[in-house]
Amino acid sequence: MNIIVTGGAGFIGSNFIFHMLKKYPDYRIICLDCLTYAGNLSTLAPVMDNPNFRFVKESITDREAVYKLFEEEHPDMVVNFAAESHVDRSIENPEVFLTTNIIGTAVLMDACRKYGIKRYHQVSTDEVTEICR
Ligand SMILES: NC(=O)c1ccc[n+]([C@@H]2O[C@H](COP(=O)([O-])OP(=O)(O)OC[C@H]3O[C@@H](n4cnc5c(N)ncnc54)[C@H](O)[C@@H]3O)[C@@H](O)[C@H]2O)c1
Repeated sequence: MNIIVTGGAGFIGSNFIFHMLKKYPDYRIICLDCLTYAGNLSTLAPVMDNPNFRFVKESITDREAVYKLFEEEHPDMVVNFAAESHVDRSIENPEVFLTTNIIGTAVLMDACRKYGIKRYHQVSTDEVTEICR
């Protein structure tokens, strides 16, 4: 099983990656994260040397990069944790929230449709889920 986990250098995504690699040691996990202020690569240090783990520094909003990764990795599943997640910051700079949380989510769902990915998990806030429904 190949799983692309986006936003895996953040709080929930990193713990999901640790859990999955421990529980399913034969799964391959590919983390796609552009490392905003909220992402920290050192968080993933415990799994960096795991042969079943790959880190890719790209944004979910970069359609070309996302499609390229899907073509390289042929994921069975995608789990999206990548987001601007701090509500207070959205008041000062709403644009990056719209770009990442809405456009980025749409790019990932387009990629899933294009490459026939059967399972896509959106970890998000209800506002994003409603817009993308
Ligand atoms: N932490 C909570 O208590 C909580 C509660 C409810 C919902 N959520 C939702 O769960 C999801 C994950 O939350 P979290 O607390 O782990 O967030 P976080 O802020 O800790 O991590 C977000 C990660 O996404 C990455 N990222 C941001 N923009 C990106 C982009 N364009 N491309 C690729 N990577 C990008 C960041 O670098 C970071 O590693 C979010 O959608 C959040 O709204 C979190």
